[in-house]
Formats: sequence, C-alpha cells, structure tokens
Amino acid sequence: MEKVKILGFAGSLRKQSYNKMLLKVAQTLLPDNVTMEIFDLEGIPPFNVDLEPPEIVKVFKEKIRSADALLIATPEYNYSIPGVLKNAIDWASFPPKDNSFEGKPVAVISASIGMLGGARAQYHLRQIFVFLNMIPVNRPEVFVTFAHKKFDENGNLLDEDAKKYLRELLQNLVKLAEVVKIGRDLKLL
Ligand code: FNR
Repeated sequence: MEKVKILGFAGSLRKQSYNKMLLKVAQTLLPDNVTMEIFDLEGIPPFNVDLEPPEIVKVFKEKIRSADALLIATPEYNYSIPGVLKNAIDWASFPPKDNSFEGKPVAVISASIGMLGGARAQYHLRQIFVFLNMIPVNRPEVFVTFAHKKFDENGNLLDEDAKKYLRELLQNLVKLAEVVKIGRDLKLL
C-alpha cells in the first residue's frame, strides 16, 4: 500500500490552542505508513464571493485535494464551530464545482475547557460535512473535556483514555481512506 497522507487543521489561531496541541498529539499516534501535515488557517481573509481566491486559499485547496483524508480539530465557540474554521471551509468549498472537500474521508476531534469537550461544535461540523459530501468517520468520538487540565506545558496530552480513542480514530480514518482509494481505483466510487 502507498503511504496514506492526512492533512490536519485546527479551528483556532491562537499559539497555545489546545486544539492545535491535540493535532500535534495526533501526529505522534499515527499508524505505520501514514503521514500527517498540519495546515495553519492564519492569514485566510474573510470570505467574499466578489474576490478571487488569494494564494493561501489556493494552497489550502490543493493540500486538501492531494490528501487522502482530513483531520479537523475544532474548538467550540457559542455552541458551534469558530468563525475562523467556517470561513476557511467556505473558501475551500467554493465554487461548488470546485469543492475541494468533495468525497473526502474526514475525522473530527475537539478540545474545550468545558465539560462537553466541544461536542456541540462537532455535531455542527458533521452537519456541514453532509452538504460538502464528505465521508466522516463516526467512531470513536474524541472529546477532550476540561482541556486546561489535560495538557502539560509541553503540549503532551495527559488523558490516557483520550489518547487511546484518538489512536483508534486515526486507525479508522486510515482504513476508511484506504477503502475509498481502492473503490476509486476500481471505479466503484
Ligand atoms: C468559548 N469557549 C467555549 N467552550 C465550550 O465548551 N462551549 C462554548 O460554547 C464556548 N464558547 C466560547 C466562545 C468564545 C468566543 C470563546 C473565546 C471561547 C471556550 C473554549 O473551549 C476555549 O477558549 C478553548 O480553549 C478554545 O480552543 P483553543 O483555542 O484552545 O483551541
């Protein structure tokens, strides 16, 4: 099998973001023969249909397209996903005939300082996946609750259960990506 390429991005721009930390932890838990690049959404301007896509959006779309699967780490803002993440998704899915998310396997993870760990944001994001025609992994769900107590100063995740589920989620994402790839090669998908 060829190497499986995952592209990860977080819906937070701040340096000490728990969701960025969670993506970095995911990089350490990948199955063999899998690589994961992290794309930073910093610098993507507000979406405007009147504008030509800026260079950063073209690069983002190309990276999405060439990845076998995506891993999105989202904070929860006001019971939903942050505007920064929605804005990036709007750019990368427009115009509809050039939706770079089309048919892409995807997994979602979240870290929040609250007791639900970003669950509500995850379900909003899953609703967006429907319109984008993405292929989400359903299980396991990975929520890092009370995130301010779960990472050390070096960004290590202290919650062993969350780590176990994250490893399992990545395995399932890779399996899904491989099945989708075989299906496309055989022109079944
Ligand atoms: C939050 N936070 C938050 N947390 C939550 O569990 N549910 C929520 O609805 C919200 N709403 C919310 C709105 C706004 C504007 C901010 C700034 C924050 C708290 C959030 O979980 C916390 O800031 C996380 O640390 C954000 O993720 P990053 O930046 O650490 O990845």
